[in-house]
Amino acid sequence: MADNQKNHIVLVGFMGTGKSTVSQQLAKRLDCESVDVDCEIESREGQSIAEIFAGRGEEAFRQTETAVLVDVLGSRERKVVATGGGAVLDPRNCDMMLNHALVVALTADAHQIISRVSHDSSRPLLQGDLKLRVNRLLEDRKHAYDFADLTIDTTRLNVHEVVDAIIACLKQ
Ligand code: S3P
Repeated sequence: MADNQKNHIVLVGFMGTGKSTVSQQLAKRLDCESVDVDCEIESREGQSIAEIFAGRGEEAFRQTETAVLVDVLGSRERKVVATGGGAVLDPRNCDMMLNHALVVALTADAHQIISRVSHDSSRPLLQGDLKLRVNRLLEDRKHAYDFADLTIDTTRLNVHEVVDAIIACLKQ
């Protein structure tokens, strides 16, 4: 991997915290490319995330997720990277993100997350009782995003306010 210390910006956070939307807007403001790791996995594998989980299991999905992160973070051009909510579960991914990017964790309260993800029923880890699944996973991942350089609670912010907060941090 190329040695381009903290060149990129990586957004981490639980499902429904706004990573993909913020990533696109932030990249526009910074005039650079936005990469959505989930979309990249789908185009690499020629399958949806749900199909990968169903056909080859979560472990196979996680391997591709790490491979995509290695490639994206190794790029010389600055990227704004939206990761999937579980990309932080492998500590090696977290180290790699910290070494190559400003890592921004987006958070939101459970109520807001449930309302945001309820419009999309495709997430494999949220099948069944949505409220129960979100609350359980939030508990399991309580500290998973603590390693980030910066944390922004998006519960009461719109996308522009989140982007402004990240840009303000970049200027410091
Ligand atoms: C996952 C989050 C999803 C996707 C996959 C697994 C997770 O991405 O990567 O369904 O483990 O939290 P989003 O956070 O973009 O929904």
